[in-house]
Amino acid sequence: MSPIVLVLNGPNLNLLGTREPATYGHETLADISALCGRAAEEFGLTVEFRQTNHEGELLDWIHAARGRCAGIVINPAAWTHTSVAIRDAVTAVALPLWEVHITNVHKREPFRHHSYLSDVAQGVICGYGIRGYCYALMEAARAIGMQS
Ligand code: DQA
Repeated sequence: MSPIVLVLNGPNLNLLGTREPATYGHETLADISALCGRAAEEFGLTVEFRQTNHEGELLDWIHAARGRCAGIVINPAAWTHTSVAIRDAVTAVALPLWEVHITNVHKREPFRHHSYLSDVAQGVICGYGIRGYCYALMEAARAIGMQS
């Protein structure tokens, strides 16, 4: 089986499509999941795609990835700017991580400019809409050795 990359999505991302479309666009979480599925096929990965509105559940998923997954792509949504716990979980499992944001958070309110994850991530992709997930998976595949 090809290496597993966990694609995690934080709070309110289940509302994509109807949530502030002028900011986040019209694509839904199901569209992102389908995009990640196609990218996984192209890059030789197995993607497990998940979303939760419960921080503890996200922490459990990160913990369970240890030794099972090759890397994590995450859009932590609002938890990006608040959660030391998610940062600690990521460093605890010592898996490579790519941070994705649909919007360019640096063009938005000042409270979105700080991320608790960026300095422990391999890379950060923001401002490219849902394509950012695809770019992150491409980088994950390259780092894992599935893509030159
Ligand atoms: C987001 C940006 C965050 O600031 C925000 O809280 C989100 C989505 C993005 O994908 O652009 O929920 O992570």
